[in-house]
Amino acid sequence: MTVVRDGKTTDAVAQATKAGYLFLFERETGEPIYEIEERPVPGSLVEGQFVAKTQPFPTAPPPYTRQRFDLSWLDDRGPEWRKQQEARLAGARMGQDYIPPSLEGSVMFPAFDGGAEWGGSAFDPKTGLLYVNANELPALLRLMERPKGVNPRSIYLEKCGVCHGPELEGTGVGPSLIGLEKRRNLVGVLTVIALGGGRMPSFVDMPMPLMERLAAYVLEPDDVEKAMAELDARPGSDSRYVSAGYVYLRDDQGVPINEPPWGTLTALDLSAGTIRWRIPFGEYPQLEGKGRGKGSENYGGPVVTDGGLLFIAATPDAKIRAYDKATGEELWQADLPAAGFATPSTYSVDGRQFVVVAAGGGKLGRPSGTQYVAFALPETAEPNQASAARKN
Ligand code: HEC
Repeated sequence: MTVVRDGKTTDAVAQATKAGYLFLFERETGEPIYEIEERPVPGSLVEGQFVAKTQPFPTAPPPYTRQRFDLSWLDDRGPEWRKQQEARLAGARMGQDYIPPSLEGSVMFPAFDGGAEWGGSAFDPKTGLLYVNANELPALLRLMERPKGVNPRSIYLEKCGVCHGPELEGTGVGPSLIGLEKRRNLVGVLTVIALGGGRMPSFVDMPMPLMERLAAYVLEPDDVEKAMAELDARPGSDSRYVSAGYVYLRDDQGVPINEPPWGTLTALDLSAGTIRWRIPFGEYPQLEGKGRGKGSENYGGPVVTDGGLLFIAATPDAKIRAYDKATGEELWQADLPAAGFATPSTYSVDGRQFVVVAAGGGKLGRPSGTQYVAFALPETAEPNQASAARKN
């Protein structure tokens, strides 16, 4: 993009991060446009783990998410609920940015998914505003000792055998897993174990190393030793610790445990280095209206138009919305057949403008979809008329 500052025009490149910071550089030289400070960050308490003493922080614009979760940021969903969450976080390191992975668990906020997302951001060359949608939920990053001696067959008998049979032969409930290696690879099996599907439960809370061992076992039940040797031969397998996997701090309803907003949409003024506007973005449908105005996790970026609109889908409530790009005021929304976890595109045909988005759903527990949906104003309408015609 090109940024105008104090009357001076600079070709620039902007990088939004999962941690909630936007870095802005001169495109030709890589020099930061707003100063970047190296600030001290927490050290590691894990033997043998060496982490940097400082990390780079941009001095402007301000972060577009909150950062550094602690217990005072727990949402208020009743004393019982609170007790449960506190128990879950007992002993975890939290309250700072950049806490390295630890055996007790380190709370990351924003979590593994950001912050900013793969949907990317949108830039308006007319105004110098950059639009970023972001997630605001915490996660626990925990290390565990690599489980060298664990026998995957005993985990299998404990967790899986009841449905798939002690010899993987299948039962009336679960299908046979014999010959599974012809249908699925390691990643495919890990996906089934983590996500479940149909009557197969999800084991998303199972630590990753155990899940991997289990997957290796069901793929090669007759040669457990070989499966384990293959796992142990992978790069990094000689390290003493492994990550216990992705533990997102959501509650039983799938809602982040922190105070809202859980998702936001922000307009950053790159010329001034400030936030122009910031609004809660999205809604969890499982909250049945009680989550209105509180935002939600969202996946898929915005697209900004010359005419003054910002289009974005990305939310689990399966809507696409148009905002006034100058103020963040919502001007229009429409229902999609499944959540539009994708970035829309806009184009014109014979002078008529369209906005199209892939409604694929399939994340955040939402149903999957198979349609692209394109919107346009009725051919006869005045350009400022908000009603849009839907065309599948
Ligand atoms: C409550 C019963 C139940 C339990 C417990 C269970 N499963 Fe399943 N599993 C199923 C069912 C039912 C399916 C078929 C799902 C479907 O309808 O697509 C399935 C499917 C699978 C598949 C895909 C099979 C294929 O042919 O592609 C794999 C792999 C699998 N399970 C592994 C496991 C593992 C490993 C465990 C233990 C961690 C486990 N399951 C625990 C019921 C169960």
